[in-house]
Amino acid sequence: MERTYIMLKPDAIKRSLVGTIIKRIEDKGCNIKAMKMFTLNEEILKEHYSHLIEKPFFPELVNFMTSGPVIGMIIEGTDVVVGMRNLMGPTKWEEASPGTIRGDFANNTTENLIHGSDSVSNAEEEINRFSKFF
Ligand code: PPS
Repeated sequence: MERTYIMLKPDAIKRSLVGTIIKRIEDKGCNIKAMKMFTLNEEILKEHYSHLIEKPFFPELVNFMTSGPVIGMIIEGTDVVVGMRNLMGPTKWEEASPGTIRGDFANNTTENLIHGSDSVSNAEEEINRFSKFF
């Protein structure tokens, strides 16, 4: 059975979309194994987004991701890494089709509601990284 790490970003909480997004995950039949609300700091974001530190948008990304709590989830299922990425829609909101979470609710690439691991190995790494908060 595969696992993935999902994180509802601060905008999902501020916009009261937590219930709506969780319902989509549950309706799809994905199994939420663990879930917790917590607040991130710059140190863990530098680790999590280490491949983006040199990008011009990195300060804005840190600012946004520390602007309020997030909700971390471990989700389990067959092919759940790709399955969750399809349910979310692509990172760039303008490329996200209606019917996906970002396609229906996001209009910004920084404030795009949800993070999901992009590979099985990254999923295990991210679960390890964030499991201290659970
Ligand atoms: S890459 O290198 O752009 O393909 O990076 P990727 O791994 O897809 O993740 C990009 C994450 O950075 C967040 N972010 C932005 N991306 C692109 N452009 C802008 N302006 C931007 N601002 C923030 C984006 O939401 C991705 O976050 P996650 O949590 O991985 O979805």
